[in-house]
Amino acid sequence: MTSDYKPGLEGVVAARTRLSRVDGEAGELTIAGYPVDDLARHASFEEAVYLLWHDRRPSAEELADFTADLAKRRALPSITLSVINEATRRESGAMDVLRMASSTMSLSTCDGRADQARTLIAAIPTIVAAYARMVDGKPIVEPDPTLGHAANFLTMLTGSSPSDAQVRALDAYLLTVCDHGLNASTFAARVIIATESDMVSAVTGAIGALKGPLHGGAPGPALDMVFEILDARTEGESVGAAADRVIRATLEAGERLMGFGHRIYKVRDPRADVLGEAARKLYAVDDTGFYEAATEIEAIALRLLEEHKPGRRLQTNVEFYTALLLHGIGIPSTLFTPIFAMARAAGWTAHCLEQLEANRIYRPQSEYVGAMGRRW
Ligand code: COA
Repeated sequence: MTSDYKPGLEGVVAARTRLSRVDGEAGELTIAGYPVDDLARHASFEEAVYLLWHDRRPSAEELADFTADLAKRRALPSITLSVINEATRRESGAMDVLRMASSTMSLSTCDGRADQARTLIAAIPTIVAAYARMVDGKPIVEPDPTLGHAANFLTMLTGSSPSDAQVRALDAYLLTVCDHGLNASTFAARVIIATESDMVSAVTGAIGALKGPLHGGAPGPALDMVFEILDARTEGESVGAAADRVIRATLEAGERLMGFGHRIYKVRDPRADVLGEAARKLYAVDDTGFYEAATEIEAIALRLLEEHKPGRRLQTNVEFYTALLLHGIGIPSTLFTPIFAMARAAGWTAHCLEQLEANRIYRPQSEYVGAMGRRW
């Protein structure tokens, strides 16, 4: 029997989508027809969700209705708050709490998949903020229906009004990562919905896939690396010299640098540029030299990756600048991946709705490599 086994399904086209196009050789990302930098600069997160679900921009009236409907769905039922509280008390990780709490959304929405999608988009930020408050032993902050998605999230998270620069930075982040072709968590969501399962199941499964460090778990470690290098400086040592020393040791130990490398992009990830620009603006508000040091570390990492892994074309990926941007907004690194989920829920739900338009259950084959001819 011949087999065209492709480990990791690399290069296999498993869906047709109008949602986003990733060109790894040209370093381009197009979301529903718009270049990612254009979308990140001009849209709000709510507009992007509408665009992904309906393949067109909303009119002013449609946007007002949509935004109001999402705002109405932000509050969490008491059972969800109990789950978050209990899981937090037992010291579950942030993504585990998000997965468990998102699963309870089945109890508050039963009006079909599109309705579930709206509830999930609206409620995930509330779950993340409630978790963060509970971890810190602070009272939760109720959602404010007069605020947009990003501003409301930051208000629920911190208990105070965010600055315009913080809101703009978070919106830019949410838009930049709202969809990205058939990545692992989106594929997981499409596989689940293709069985004609429900939206809560698909999104819950996607959250599980996003949790892994090879997918959505990289920005925390990427930020840790920046701090490790800054902290490792000996007296009089420059950032560059410390970066060279620490990164060399990491690569020589056979470890990967988090925030670098990508399955699809073999040139610079275009999202790194969009987020880099947003981060540069954010850090310029109150310059501490951190942004400049981080970009110096990035340049040294790229040089050493080329030296250590010649020809592999390892470039900065979205996670490196995600780390800088979210840290600059004042978000703790434990929330980086849950906030990624907040954004990517737009893509997950849109892919699920799209999958159902022309559904065929996913059923690839496996190549048997086990023993034959045994008898019990
Ligand atoms: N640091 C050091 N080496 C890396 C690397 C990294 N971040 N990413 C890949 N490599 C190396 C691999 O060790 C491998 O080397 P080898 O050929 O000598 O064995 C080579 O580059 C190809 O790697 P491979 O694992 O085949 O690439 P992939 O397409 O399967 O993996 C990632 C893509 C993203 C999983 C991988 O680059 C990675 O682990 N990056 C760090 C985690 C990260 O930032 N994830 C977020 C992605 S958006």
